[in-house]
Amino acid sequence: MARLIGGIGTSHIPSLGPVIDRKLTTTPEWKPFFASYDPVRAWLAERAPDLAIVVYNDHGCDFFIDKMPTFAVGAAPSYPAGDQGWDVRPVPVAAGDLAFSQHAIECLIEEEFDVTICQELRLDHGFHVPMSLLFGDTWPVRVLPIAVNVIQHPVPTPTRCYKLGAALRRAIDSYPTDERVVIVGTGGMSHQLHGERAGFMSQAFDEGFLDAIEADPLALCRITRRAYMERAGAEAIELIMWLVMRGALDTRVTRVHRAYQLGVSLTGSGLIALENAAAS
Ligand code: DHB
Ligand code: FE
Repeated sequence: MARLIGGIGTSHIPSLGPVIDRKLTTTPEWKPFFASYDPVRAWLAERAPDLAIVVYNDHGCDFFIDKMPTFAVGAAPSYPAGDQGWDVRPVPVAAGDLAFSQHAIECLIEEEFDVTICQELRLDHGFHVPMSLLFGDTWPVRVLPIAVNVIQHPVPTPTRCYKLGAALRRAIDSYPTDERVVIVGTGGMSHQLHGERAGFMSQAFDEGFLDAIEADPLALCRITRRAYMERAGAEAIELIMWLVMRGALDTRVTRVHRAYQLGVSLTGSGLIALENAAAS
């Protein structure tokens, strides 16, 4: 049976794309930030997952506010990069896994998650920046992209996201191959990009979120959507995507790594990697 080895939560800051593409990641200015991903990259290299479920949000690249699926699941053999208006980054076309997509979609619909099935999907920085940070220039995994609406309100509840993760776990556990799977939740942490509170961040909120995503994720399910936005900025609602990741993991997990930095962009930049107890 397929096995979930662990999960990763990471911000997906678009301005890091050009830093990576211009090969500036080891300059004195950028090295400390990029080096904070090294322990997670080493863990991934050692655990060698075959498949990555990447929970991200589209930022007006393939979906727009005229039509916004709550949960959209990739069902394509491959996923090209889209153009968000800053040209297309020189990233790989992400390799999909049609059989795993079909299995996951069937399981989710069976469990009454009425997902949007995407036989074509162009990916944006929400997907690409985490992939570059975690895997570098070439990606050794097939992917299952899952887009969550965190743009057009009403967005899904934190609890619904957590339950989606739990349903994904059952899909992994019932997949009859020995694939090794990792799940990545992207976005956040605290940030607001527009309006009167543009630039708002909260390190206290973010550190508390990192504590709880590891040890008490149900506490994060009890925070209302409004409270996420009031306490951590409107775009901090992206953090509900980390709950999909956490909902897929065991209740008890082992922390592989955790990092946090302010000043990378307009976003509290966070990273956590959690290993399933049974995987170690
Ligand atoms: C930033 C972060 C995001 O999550 C995003 O979607 C856009 C911009 C930022 O920090 O600049
Ligand atoms: Fe974002």
